[in-house]
Amino acid sequence: DSARVYVTRKVPPDGLEVLRKSGRVQFELWDTDDPVPRAELLKKVRGVDGLLCVLTEKVDAELLDAAGPGLKVVSTMSVGYDHLSLEELKKRSLECVYCHFHLCRGIRVGYTPDVLTDAVAELTVALLLCTSRRLVEATHEAKTGGWGTWRTLWLCGYELANSTVGILGLGRIGVAIAERLKPFKVKKFIYTDVAPRPELANMINAEYVSMDELAQQSDFLTICCALTPETQGICNKNLFSKMKETSIFINTSRGGVVNQDDLYEALATGQIAGAGLDVTTPEPLPTSHPLFTLKNCVILPHIASASYTTRNAMSVLAANNLLAGLRGEPMEKELKL
Ligand code: GLV
Ligand code: GLV
Repeated sequence: DSARVYVTRKVPPDGLEVLRKSGRVQFELWDTDDPVPRAELLKKVRGVDGLLCVLTEKVDAELLDAAGPGLKVVSTMSVGYDHLSLEELKKRSLECVYCHFHLCRGIRVGYTPDVLTDAVAELTVALLLCTSRRLVEATHEAKTGGWGTWRTLWLCGYELANSTVGILGLGRIGVAIAERLKPFKVKKFIYTDVAPRPELANMINAEYVSMDELAQQSDFLTICCALTPETQGICNKNLFSKMKETSIFINTSRGGVVNQDDLYEALATGQIAGAGLDVTTPEPLPTSHPLFTLKNCVILPHIASASYTTRNAMSVLAANNLLAGLRGEPMEKELKL
């Protein structure tokens, strides 16, 4: 009596191997690099016991209704879970695995924190340096004839040495970024969050400040918070107007935390010096978007966790979470609903 599982995307080989070897699941896979069309997804999830998804799939009331009451586990191959309607998942009670009678708990949810922390932190540092030292502009100039001669202030940027780095949302990833930036002789780390996080902050000697102080003092401001109703659009006009004209804004969390019109305005008018974005709204960002016209904005196509090692590790963790959930065992990384 193997469980039925739908996998919404071509999963890296290591994770697929875990599913194959388990012998416990009969899985169907959307075996391409493009998202499964919504209508197809709604059809495919009918009657499944488990769903292994990625961040492009909205797991909402519509999808859960389509799946039906047999769905026990949703495992996402991502650390972010803003694509999952937690309320809806919580609401849907299942037959208890212990008494097989009472309807006593919600659908269980797995996600993939920690295994991607190193890759995301590395990419964030790369994007930060790329933005602050204007590397995209520089390679473009070199290649297209703009390199007339050596010039004293040409392509000058901002350095990390003696700077203040601000972290909005201090978690595992923020700490990992700070640890990597420290050898660049950063003078001070500051952060804000809904409440102080002394255990994490002590690891990097970071000082807890208000949102206003974070904006005012940061030479580099890096966004590391989850997207929630509380963080939706918090990087807006109000924040940018308090930042220094020489400051660099970096976002590797979710596009939704930024008001992009306000960011465009801040970049175009020189209110801040530059921005590096790995995430946007929407994704993909249309090539006609005004942000693409700005020299001081570096845009990456959501690749922060994209190393072979990490994507494979994420797929293994997502597969293991799924299997544990189907067996009614504790998951390696389970989201508390
Ligand atoms: C990527 O953005 C993730 O949430 O894993
Ligand atoms: C730069 O190449 C220098 O020599 O200062």
